[in-house]
Amino acid sequence: MMRLAVLLSGRGSNFQAIHDSIQRGELHAEIVCVISNRPDAPGIHCARKWGYDAYVIDHKQFATREAHEEEVLRVLEKAQPDYIALAGYMRLLSASFVERYRNRILNIHPSLLPAFPGVDAQAQAIAHGVKISGCTVHLVDEHLDAGPILVQRAVEVRDNDTADTLAARILVEEHKAYVEALRKLS
Ligand code: GRF
Repeated sequence: MMRLAVLLSGRGSNFQAIHDSIQRGELHAEIVCVISNRPDAPGIHCARKWGYDAYVIDHKQFATREAHEEEVLRVLEKAQPDYIALAGYMRLLSASFVERYRNRILNIHPSLLPAFPGVDAQAQAIAHGVKISGCTVHLVDEHLDAGPILVQRAVEVRDNDTADTLAARILVEEHKAYVEALRKLS
């Protein structure tokens, strides 16, 4: 059974999708810890409610980026995950973090990478007028929203789409894509 750590910063709907698929027996994994860098992240409240080992490691409480990351790594070392799922985790990982868990960190991004890395991917897609966008689950390397692609799911961009309506349709596919990627590895 795959031991999975989840790192998040916000809503946590991808985390919920992973949780639900485990509950339904569709993904053979055990979530061994959930870490949020934000105390107010709805996702971390869900984690507590569902009985997971849940940790708030607030980056604002640490003097340096390195010190914050060290604490995250300390919690992870204890939890011994096989894989780490970044699920809306809004912190860049240092090269040494990536090295420590090389090819074992997954991220989801709301575009068809390598198009539109970085923030506001859905707004970037609208601004460029692309007709197809989607989402990507990939292994994390040292670069932002880069690394080997595991799963992509395409979404049609409609003429009347806004960044928000497109984001909502992409999100539905994100939830399927994340579970699909984890199933490939499990
Ligand atoms: C998703 O759109 C994901 O692609 C991006 O951040 C968002 C997180 O949403 N990296 P949620 O917290 O999983 O609901």
